[in-house]
Amino acid sequence: MRILGIETSCDETSAAVLEIDEKINSLKLLSNVTATSLNLHSKTGGIIPEIAAREQLKYILPVIDEALKNTNDKKPITNDQIDAIAVTYGPGLIGSLLVGVETAKTLSLLWNKPLIPVNHLYGHIYANFIKTDSSPLTLNALPSPTDFPAIGLVVSGGHTDLVYMENQTSIKWVAGTRDDAAGECFDKCARLLGYDYPGGPKISELALKGNPNKFKLPHPLPEADIYDFSFSGLKTAFFRSTQQYFPILRNSTAKIGWQEIAIENKLFDSDKQVLYDLCASLQKTIVDVLVKKTFNLAFKMDVKSIIIGGGVSANELLIETFKQYAISHMPYPKIFAPQKFLSTDNGAMIAAAAYFNSKPIDPLKLEANPELYFD
Ligand code: KG4
Ligand code: ZN
Repeated sequence: MRILGIETSCDETSAAVLEIDEKINSLKLLSNVTATSLNLHSKTGGIIPEIAAREQLKYILPVIDEALKNTNDKKPITNDQIDAIAVTYGPGLIGSLLVGVETAKTLSLLWNKPLIPVNHLYGHIYANFIKTDSSPLTLNALPSPTDFPAIGLVVSGGHTDLVYMENQTSIKWVAGTRDDAAGECFDKCARLLGYDYPGGPKISELALKGNPNKFKLPHPLPEADIYDFSFSGLKTAFFRSTQQYFPILRNSTAKIGWQEIAIENKLFDSDKQVLYDLCASLQKTIVDVLVKKTFNLAFKMDVKSIIIGGGVSANELLIETFKQYAISHMPYPKIFAPQKFLSTDNGAMIAAAAYFNSKPIDPLKLEANPELYFD
C-alpha cells in the first residue's frame, strides 16, 4: 500500500509518499518534499504564526504535487495509486495545522481515499521506521518487533517527552518537561548570544571548538526517580554565566539591552573562545540530562531499546552520547535515531505513524487540534 503523508504543524510544509509492504512491515520512502518559511522567522528569533500559516497556503499544493511526481524511483504516482492520506492534526499552530488538515480532507473526499489523522508527536517516533535509499546501512537499524518494549524520547522545539512502547503500535506517555523544551532551551540561549532561530544547530556548531567543562551549569531535577525534565532554570543559569564573564552585561536582562550591549561592544568577537566554551557547556548539560533521564527510565522499565525522535535528535553529540552510554551498559538497550533529514518535521514520519496507528476518520469530522498531546 501507499500512504501520502502531509505535515504542516509549524513552519515546514511537507508531503511524502511511503510504499509499505505490510507482510514484513517495510516502509520504503518514495518521496519527501519539504518547503520551509524558516528564513522569514529567523530574524525575529521565533516563528510568527500568521506568516507561517500564509506560507503554508502558498506551498501546500506545489509540495504535494512534487511529492507525487518526483519520486526516488523516477516513477510518478497518480492519485489512484495512493491508498490512504495521513495528516498531522495537532499539536501545532492552528493556522498552519488548518492548511494541512483542510487540504487532506479535500483530497480524501475528491479521491475517495481513507483519511488518517496523526498526532505530530507520534510522527517523530515513527520517523525511525522509515527505510530510505540514501543510506542502506539503516536497513539493519530499523526497530523490529523484537526490539520492544522500548522507551521513546521525543525531543523537539516544543516538546521533551518520554513514552513507553509495549510494542510497535502502543505509546503511553510517562514523563515530560515541566517548563521549556530542550530545543527551546537551545533556541533561547542561542538568541541570547545573538543567533537566529533555530539555535540548536548553531550552538552545536560553535560547541565543536569549545571546552564542555568550562562552565558548570546545573542539572535540573537530578533525582534518579524523577523522569520529568525542566530546562528553564538551565537557561537562566546560562544567562548568569554569560553575565558573570562579561560584567558589562550585568545591568541588562535577557529581554532588555542584552543583545545591543553585546553587539555594540563586540563582546563575542573579542573573546570567541568564551562563546565556544559557553555553547559546549550548554550542549553537554542538555545532552547529559536527556541521556541520564532516558536511561534511568529505560532501566526501570527494563526495555530492549530507546527510540529517539524530534528536531533535537539531529544533534550529533546527543546520539553519540546515547550510543556510548548504551555500549557501557551492554547488552541493552539498543539505540535508534532517525536519519538527520527525518529528525525535523516531515511528511514521511506522518505517513509512517499512520501506518502503525491507523484510525481512519470521516473527513467531514476531522478538526485540527493545536493542544493535542499524548493520549
Ligand atoms: O521537531 P522540530 O523540527 O520542530 C518541532 O516540532 O518543534 O524541532 C525543531 C527544534 C528547534 O528547537 C531546533 O533548535 C532543534 O530542533 N534542533 C537542534 C538541532 N537541529 C535542530 N537542536 C540541537 N542540535 C541540533 N543539531
Ligand atoms: Zn516536530
